Amino acid sequence: MASGQLSRAEALACSGCRHACHVMLYCDTSTQLFGRIPIRHIILMQMRFDGLLGFPGGLVNPSEETLEAGLSRELSEEVGVALPINVEDHVESCYAPATSSSSSASSSRRLITHFYVKKMEEEQIREVERAAASTATDHGQEVLGMVRVPLYAMKGGGGLASFLSHSFIGNARSQLVDSLSRLGLVSPAELQRALDKSLE
Ligand code: APR
Ligand code: MG
Ligand code: MG
Repeated sequence: MASGQLSRAEALACSGCRHACHVMLYCDTSTQLFGRIPIRHIILMQMRFDGLLGFPGGLVNPSEETLEAGLSRELSEEVGVALPINVEDHVESCYAPATSSSSSASSSRRLITHFYVKKMEEEQIREVERAAASTATDHGQEVLGMVRVPLYAMKGGGGLASFLSHSFIGNARSQLVDSLSRLGLVSPAELQRALDKSLE
């Protein structure tokens, strides 16, 4: 386990901590951009109310609900579908990086973020997108819209490199990059090129 990471059980043992759970929903797809660039996978992220990109999910109170039930509740608010999330979908738990807002008195308790990944069918992902833009109670409030992550590279750095150069909440960017690598959704060489280009 990498430094700064906790097992799910260790994380839950911290009763004085705040907990937040987020999930990467994704599927395979055979569709092509402009009829020639393979899209390969649809990965859902969201534009948050604060202008930052992040994964759907939110704060969970483990004394009232399991992490997974809390994440499912957050999904019903943010994407309009109460998708079941299982313990097997858990990827990692870690202490969130300290931010200027987290040092305020109202949020001085340490935040642990729990990250999940759930693979779905393409039609289920499309249904999530439809619900997120229509029935989700947070639409237009805490969530400004769902976005797909472009995984291809285009001339001049368009595609994944451009996407990675945006601003992300907490460690959402590394959660995305680690997932692309771990799940083999982008080849190691392509991912490295996009990471290098995103910093230019
Ligand atoms: N990695 C690390 N931290 C994250 C990530 C992430 N990928 N995504 C969100 N966070 C942090 C946010 O900074 C926030 O403090 O986790 C916390 C909760 O996540 P949200 O999704 O923002 O929580 P949610 O319950 O959906 O919304 C509640 O109302 O009181 C406000 O600012 C508060 O954003 C919070 C919102
Ligand atoms: Mg929420
Ligand atoms: Mg949220």
